[in-house]
This record gives sequence, C-alpha cells and structure tokens, in this order.
Amino acid sequence: MKRNLMIISLLFCLSLHAQVNRLTVQVDKLGAPIQSTMYGIFFEDINFAADGGLYGELVKNRSFEFPQTLQGWKAFGQWEVRTDGPFERNPHYVRLKSAAHPHRHTGLENEGFFGIGVKAGETYRFSVWARIPDGKEAGKIRVELINPKSMDERQGLASQEITIDKQQWTKYQVELTPTATEPKARLRIFLLGDMSVDVEHVSLFPVDTWQGHENGLRKDLAQALYDLHPGIFRFPGGCIVEGTDLDTRYNWKNSVGPVENRPLNQNRWQYTFDYKFFPDYYQSYGLGFYEYFLLSEEIGAEPLPVISVGLACQFQNDDESAHVPVAELDPYIQDALDLIEFANGGTDTKWGRVRADMGHPEPFHMKFLAIGNEQWGETYPQHLEPFVKAIRKQHPEIKLVGSAGPNSEGEQFDYLWPEMKRLGADLVDEHFYRNEKWFLSQGARYDNYDRKGPKVFAGEYACHGTGKKWNHYYASLLEAAFMTGLERNADVVHMATYAPLFAHVEGWQWRPDLIWFDNLECVRTVSYYVQQLYGTHKGTNALKLTMNGKNVTGAEGQNGLFASAVYDAQNGSYIVKVANTSDHYQSIDVQFAGMKKGTSLTSGSRILLTSPDMDAENTIEQPALIVPQEQTIRVSGQSLSADLPPYSFAVFQVK
Ligand code: AHR
Repeated sequence: MKRNLMIISLLFCLSLHAQVNRLTVQVDKLGAPIQSTMYGIFFEDINFAADGGLYGELVKNRSFEFPQTLQGWKAFGQWEVRTDGPFERNPHYVRLKSAAHPHRHTGLENEGFFGIGVKAGETYRFSVWARIPDGKEAGKIRVELINPKSMDERQGLASQEITIDKQQWTKYQVELTPTATEPKARLRIFLLGDMSVDVEHVSLFPVDTWQGHENGLRKDLAQALYDLHPGIFRFPGGCIVEGTDLDTRYNWKNSVGPVENRPLNQNRWQYTFDYKFFPDYYQSYGLGFYEYFLLSEEIGAEPLPVISVGLACQFQNDDESAHVPVAELDPYIQDALDLIEFANGGTDTKWGRVRADMGHPEPFHMKFLAIGNEQWGETYPQHLEPFVKAIRKQHPEIKLVGSAGPNSEGEQFDYLWPEMKRLGADLVDEHFYRNEKWFLSQGARYDNYDRKGPKVFAGEYACHGTGKKWNHYYASLLEAAFMTGLERNADVVHMATYAPLFAHVEGWQWRPDLIWFDNLECVRTVSYYVQQLYGTHKGTNALKLTMNGKNVTGAEGQNGLFASAVYDAQNGSYIVKVANTSDHYQSIDVQFAGMKKGTSLTSGSRILLTSPDMDAENTIEQPALIVPQEQTIRVSGQSLSADLPPYSFAVFQVK
C-alpha cells in the first residue's frame, strides 16, 4: 500500500515536472515606458534608522538636549549643566570643573547608540565646542575610546589630548584611530589640570563616511541604498511626518542650517519600546532635509519629500482638536512652498540661499511632493485641498502625491481614491503590510485600474507572514511574485517602495525590514535582493507576456506562476521575471513572438533566488545565506527553456 502510494506520488511529481508552461512574450510591440522612478526606497526614522543608524554620528544626546539632560551620558567628578550655551535652539552644555584631587577625575562618558561601534585602524573625528570659562590661560581635556568590558589597565582603544585655549566658544577637533575593533566602545572625556572647561555639541564621526561628507552617513548603509539603484527616494517617513502630536511632527525647517543649532525632536516611535524606563529615541535632525536631498542626488534617485498636512498621527489622535483647523493651515502651506524654494529656488531666494550656504548652490530639481502620510477620513481631503490649490498656482510643475489611507482596500480606500481624483493628485500612495494569502491573490491587482486617473505609488508594502513577522524567505518570494503585477502595469504604477527600510538589531520596533544592521555590520535581506533585482532589471518598456492568452498572475490553472517581461533599450535585451510559488519544479518555455524572421537570441543569463527552507533569512551571523545566483544559459532560436526550482524567483535576460 505504502509502496503504491510512493509510486503514485512519484508519477504525479514527474507529470507535474513534465508539464511545460508555455509563455509568450510579444516583442514587436513595446508597452508602457517603465518610469525611472518605478522602484525606489522609503526612508523613515523608525527602528533607529537615522540617529544610531544611517546618520554617522556615534554620540547619543550630543547637545545635552534630551529631556533627561544627561541621558546617554555618565558624568563624574565635579560638573554642572548650564543653559546659556552658544546655540540658541540647543542651549544646554556641561561645565567640567576640577575635582581638585590627584585620584579623582572629572569628565563625561557617552554610551552611544547600543554602544559605539569602532573598527581597528579606521579614523574617527572627535569634535567639541568648548571654552575656558574662568579666565585661565588654557585647559586640557583627554578624549578616549574605551572598551568597557576589557580588564586591561586603561581599557583604551584610542586617546588624544586637546588644549582648550580660548575663552570664546570654539570648535576643536582631533582624530582617533582605535587599535582594536569593538562594537560597544564608549567615549570618555577627562578634564586634565586645575581649571574648568565648558563643553557642548560633543560629536564623533567616522572620517570615512559615504562620499566623505563631514556631517555624513554610515558608508555601508548608504552603499546598500546605492546598490539598489533606486529611482525614487521617499523621506523622512511615515508616521514621523505627522508626529505623536503636531509639536512633534517632522519640521523640515528645523532640519536645515548648521547642525549645532538644529533643535531636537521627539521621535513618534519612542513610546513603542515597552522595556525602556524612559524613552531615548529622539531626532537630532543631523540627518535633515539637506542631507536627504543630497543623498537622493548621490544615489541617483528622484527626491520625494513628505510633509505634514496639518494632521497629527491619526492612529494616536482621534480627536479633531489634535489637528490644525483647515482655516489655520496657512503656515503649513507656506512650509510646503518654502520647501520647493529650498530644493529648487535660485540662490537669490531666501530658502535657496539657505541651501547654497549649506554647500549646494545648484538646485536639487525636486519634481514630486507628498502632502500628508497615511491620512484618512473626510478631514484629509479637506486639509489637502488648500495645499493643492496653493501649490498648483505657484508650482504647476510639481507632481503631488496624495494618500489612499492605511489599508490596501476597504471603506477608507474606496472613499479616498475618488477624492484624490477629484483633487487632481498626480499619484496616490497606497500602503499594504499584508499576509501571504493577500500577496498570492494580488498578482492582477492593477490590471483593471483606471488608466486615466492618478498614477499609483505603492509607497509602503511588505509581506507580513501570519505569525511570522520577520524577513523569512517565503515572504520575499511572494513580494517578488506580486511585483510582476507592478511591472506589467507600468502605465499606471509609477513608483513602488518597500517599507520599512532599516532596522537596528537592538533597536527595532517593526519588522520585517529591508536592511538590518548592528553597530558594525549590515545585512541585506532576501527582500532587499528582490528589490535590487527589480531595480537593476527594470528595463525601459513593459512587454506583453501571456500563458494561454492570459496574464500570468498566479491565477487558478497557472501552477503558482507569476511573470512579467520588459525590454531594455539601453542594451537591447529582453528581461523576463518569473516567480514559481509552487512546491515543485516547473518547466517553462518562453517564446519571443514577433522577433524578425531569421534572427535568433544570442546570449542569455539567469539570476535565481531560491531556498529549501521557507523560514530561512539572512542574519548578522549569516548575511549571505540566501543571495541571488547568476549563471549564463544556452539560448538559440527565438525561445528559451528553463526549469524553475520550487519556491524560486528567476530573472532571465536574453539578447
Ligand atoms: O512603515 C511603518 C509605518 O507604517 C509608517 O510610519 C506608516 O506610514 C505606516 O503605518
């Protein structure tokens, strides 16, 4: 009986294997152009993505402005916190006073963000604003990077002395080169000698930041963004744009100008760490709008800033009084207009001048602006309308992005889409953090969208496995499958960004995420590789791809296959993406119909993502467990044949 069953199942498998899925790609008629913005990134300061993450600053609470003034610091000896510092919007500083004792020291120690990650032989730039307050000629401080766990006599990884010789506030800096790699180092400042020294804005950056900028970004994380080849860069969030309340919304004007004077903002996500005694998640705004625009430029993506529409986070505030009344929106609308001036205005304009003074006289050529994040209810269109009118009047060239709310369908979604049409939004931002079943059923999601309405921006999405909220392989595979539907509908879908982007392994509150990191290393998830495969193989035009005359959307009878095809005019190649979401091998035969008679394919390659374990993921310990594998394939004539392993995603490129 058992034997018979085995034979039957073997025959069944073989018959499934033998069954060839015949796909046809129509190559003689180019479909919709693929927008350069099609695949991109969405950055939000969640999971310690900015301070403690992408932003290269290694000192937490560098300006002593956290509500608990010395949070992140240990002060020892004789010291005093004062509030008449040189930076108006960050007035706190610390006066270090002589301990007047040969064996007692005065100083400060900073814990960094989950420690300070330093690498042996790399150079770190320490800087501090300081002065001598008591009329003495000169004072000295010693700056050290230490390993707090080490039992060595001095625990020292690097040390330098700085002479403070001015009575006016002055910036001093020195370079430190640690002798060992340590993910959880600390920074110590000792007062040397019998005098006082005032210290403010204590900072430590790797010298080797992304593109070498002084107020720069962590190189490996920015490189990971660059390697995605993103076409669009949405920033700075998410819910942080709205704020826990209006006071804590992201205020872009506070995020530009000299970093020392950018005021601290409470992070909307700071209350989501139940285990912390007191929140320590703030935005220094060191990574501000100038830095976001610059990064967009450097990674080759169009900037897409999101600004507050005057609604505080609606998840946290259901009372209308938490929001700005529509009649009082003028300052918010002015913020939007000023932002356009900051990004694009001439150096003879107020905000264009600010940009130029920061080092970028050329405009950033911003083309898109999102107004409001994930807003909903009648209040949203009511708030949005005056923005649209004012911006259209002064800047008809800017494309405006509205929201379809927090859900992928349902009452709010159905209400908001027509409202966005009525208001003339150029794009509508849809969000969907949904489970496997949803992703498997959405291959044809955009096939019947209105071709004349606003374009789609799939602004936040990720497959959240039921009971498995981590980056497991199967979720990424389903994202790849779903994305064939974005590509097939490139005439209506103009942008798509996975979310969230970053997460610190010790500081996350939301998962899955695209890129994980600790203080020294970063991990590209399988979802990252899916995004990268699309970003680097987006082509220039969609091509019609069918199986038995139908789009390949994982529908009944399609053997769990999802597929799409594009032409790449830059190198004259056809690119076919196929996801096999079934549990068995699938053979495919792809006919390139419409190729000129007598011509044949000359070369081909296949990049494959696959894993035997659906729950497997890339981790800090095993960052390359699942990575795309590329191989050349033999092609001849006008078709290609291939076998797809169970649960795999393949990108074929043929010339
Ligand atoms: O990406 C995390 C959050 O999800 C975003 O802040 C918000 O827009 C959505 O609810």
